[in-house]
Amino acid sequence: MMRTKCSRGISPTLALLVQSSVVARARRSARDLNIAAVMSRSHVLKSCHALASRALKAPASQPRHFSNLPETTIYGGPVSQSAVKRFTLRQLMQKYAKKEPITMVTAYDYPSAVHVDQAGIDIALVGDSVAMVVHGHDTTLPVTLDDMLLHCKAVARGARRPLLVGDLPFGSYEQSPQQAVDSATRMLKEGNMDSVKMEGGIGSRVAAAKAISEAGIAVMGHVGLTPQAISILGGFRPQGRSSARALLVLEHALALQAAGCFSVVLECVPSPVAAAITTTLKIPTIGIGAGPKCSGQVLVYHDLLGMMQHPHYAKVTPKFCKKYAKIGEVINSALEEYNREVTSGEFPSGAHTPYRLENNQLDFFIEDLQKNGFHDAAEAANKAALQDEAVDSLLKKTSVV
Ligand code: KIV
Repeated sequence: MMRTKCSRGISPTLALLVQSSVVARARRSARDLNIAAVMSRSHVLKSCHALASRALKAPASQPRHFSNLPETTIYGGPVSQSAVKRFTLRQLMQKYAKKEPITMVTAYDYPSAVHVDQAGIDIALVGDSVAMVVHGHDTTLPVTLDDMLLHCKAVARGARRPLLVGDLPFGSYEQSPQQAVDSATRMLKEGNMDSVKMEGGIGSRVAAAKAISEAGIAVMGHVGLTPQAISILGGFRPQGRSSARALLVLEHALALQAAGCFSVVLECVPSPVAAAITTTLKIPTIGIGAGPKCSGQVLVYHDLLGMMQHPHYAKVTPKFCKKYAKIGEVINSALEEYNREVTSGEFPSGAHTPYRLENNQLDFFIEDLQKNGFHDAAEAANKAALQDEAVDSLLKKTSVV
């Protein structure tokens, strides 16, 4: 039985071409089967005309076979658990009023966003820490607004339930309140974020936060250790360790609250300082390396998962970070095993070699290879087919049992 591709959606010219190739194939089959006498040209043409005209009349609702959009996708799969259950600013404030701890985790791409969403985390922060944990920089400074927008878009596709916060990167909001509003607007319009975060509590930053908030964009502040200020701070060091400096952190947090921030991140400050700020503010504080007295906690995705197992990374992972898993070890051993199996020829075995040529096409293929002088190729194809057959019969036997 000849199988052709006549039945797919094709143009009239292509239909004619297919038709003549079908005739040739059919003749060859007939010759091979020694039934040329019964397989007349008109007989073959008749059935081919039927196939071709059926293809040309195919209703528009039939699946498209040559689209760049697959009918079923793997990576476009998991979406928000429920759009109704979105964690909005309202929910955040309700949680805060009930003194329920708020959870926030960074996410940088579609898979991390899906995981953060499915874990029921309240807020997904597309942090500028992406510069370090994803792009391999030593600081957060090199990442640009355009870089951030790309990450934001991917996260927004994967995390539809959590409140999405896009971090304004270094250089995107310091020059003027207008620059800050422009960048924040892009975060919402292009990056599909719900809100933005910005670092610092000095006058110009407070003015930027006020302008963003007055533009109708929810803004989260960030005080204590502000990694974008590494040039001045001289390193990633804890802040607010003297009474005067701790009071300054409190002052900055209060100014950001007055500017309209809906929440403030407290990074790397002693626990009593975080407790004092949390008690004073009327908006939630989200702590990182700031102890248990904050309204919520945030950790960097890669840090909490134990993603990086390189000794250098282990050395620079912040002291305050609890590793909830050793994902890096799992990744390492899987990659090593894959490397070993490919090298030894163990992978791919029959179980992972699923595709077969269409009915009878293997014989044609081998024959065509030989006709075209590819004798080694024909032999290689034949050998591979025998191996497939052995696997198929083994699978058949085991499925019968
Ligand atoms: O960029 C980031 O990951 C952050 C968190 C540490 C709060 O700003």
